[in-house]
Amino acid sequence: MRLLFRILIPVAAILAMFKLWLKWTTGWCRSNVRLVGKTAIITGANTGIGYETAKDLAKRGARVILACRDPTRGQKAVEKIVKATNNQNVIFKHLDLSTFESVIEFAKDINKTEARLDILVNNAGMGFRGYLKADNGFLLIMQTNYFGHFLLTNLLLDLMKKTKNSRIVNVGSIAAKFTEDFDVNQLNKYEASGHHFEVYCRSKLCNLLFTIELADRLKGTSVTTYSVHPGAVATEAFRTIPAVARIITTVLGWFMKNSLEGAQTTIYCSLQKGIENYSGEHFEDCHYVSRYKIAQDPNLPKQLWKVTEELIKTVIG
Ligand SMILES: NC(=O)c1ccc[n+]([C@@H]2O[C@H](COP(=O)([O-])OP(=O)(O)OC[C@H]3O[C@@H](n4cnc5c(N)ncnc54)[C@H](OP(=O)(O)O)[C@@H]3O)[C@@H](O)[C@H]2O)c1
Repeated sequence: MRLLFRILIPVAAILAMFKLWLKWTTGWCRSNVRLVGKTAIITGANTGIGYETAKDLAKRGARVILACRDPTRGQKAVEKIVKATNNQNVIFKHLDLSTFESVIEFAKDINKTEARLDILVNNAGMGFRGYLKADNGFLLIMQTNYFGHFLLTNLLLDLMKKTKNSRIVNVGSIAAKFTEDFDVNQLNKYEASGHHFEVYCRSKLCNLLFTIELADRLKGTSVTTYSVHPGAVATEAFRTIPAVARIITTVLGWFMKNSLEGAQTTIYCSLQKGIENYSGEHFEDCHYVSRYKIAQDPNLPKQLWKVTEELIKTVIG
């Protein structure tokens, strides 16, 4: 018994210290910017990081559009945000990033009905689906996390340029760092090989490279763009993993950020004044971090953009 205590107490102390360290190092967006008169779109805003981002922007008075694939979950999130913020200008619009048809329809609707777009947060994402294919034959994770957002952003760019000083935030991940065999010419040809997390890593690297090239193309306009890593966040992201692994991640969840903490860097990049010179750069815990080594090849962002355009054209014509 004594031995048990001798082990348990130090282990508990180390874990508690780790948790304290996590809380200590979590970056918070301290900006008091108000967003009355501004419009924001957040993809995948019915839960997790996207939901907390939408709630924060609504609290600041923005018109917030929750772009979600599930109408029931989307509408429920709207009701919760309206109740929590007293901002009636929060709405749901249907967007399923796994199909280009839905992306095109959504963008058409936005361009027709919205007079401005100040903030676009490309947040929706999925992992742990390995090499599953979307209906159009693209890898589902790549389609949802990257291709869908690439098309969406491009279809909304004119509106954002017209709005002025607008921002595009791409929610990436530190997982990009762990991409092993990235080849822009293989984006959709990769077949099941390596670990199943690999597709997610590649999709998140694409989010970062997309941000770099987009910033370059936006030079001379007032639109800026940033990529972020939210940290390890206990959200519904792990809902599709096997039950045993889910139990483990639930326990580990105690050592992760909660969704509100995980949303801080996204919120920061959406509205913090004075970061415009960092367009194209990557942020963690509400501060700029240098590009991951794998994203430092100066030619890669351009190559990726070109291949992406070509691939999307093969589907939408
Ligand atoms: N959690 C982390 O530790 C972590 C770490 C690094 C990066 N991230 C990134 O953070 C972002 C948010 O993740 P999260 O942790 O908040 O995960 P989450 O709780 O699972 O939320 C993901 C959101 O994306 C939506 N989504 C999935 N597929 C979609 C589709 N085809 N069309 C439209 N929306 C779709 C989901 O909608 P449904 O509810 O309908 O499924 C949900 O609203 C993701 O890009 C993720 O890669 C998360």
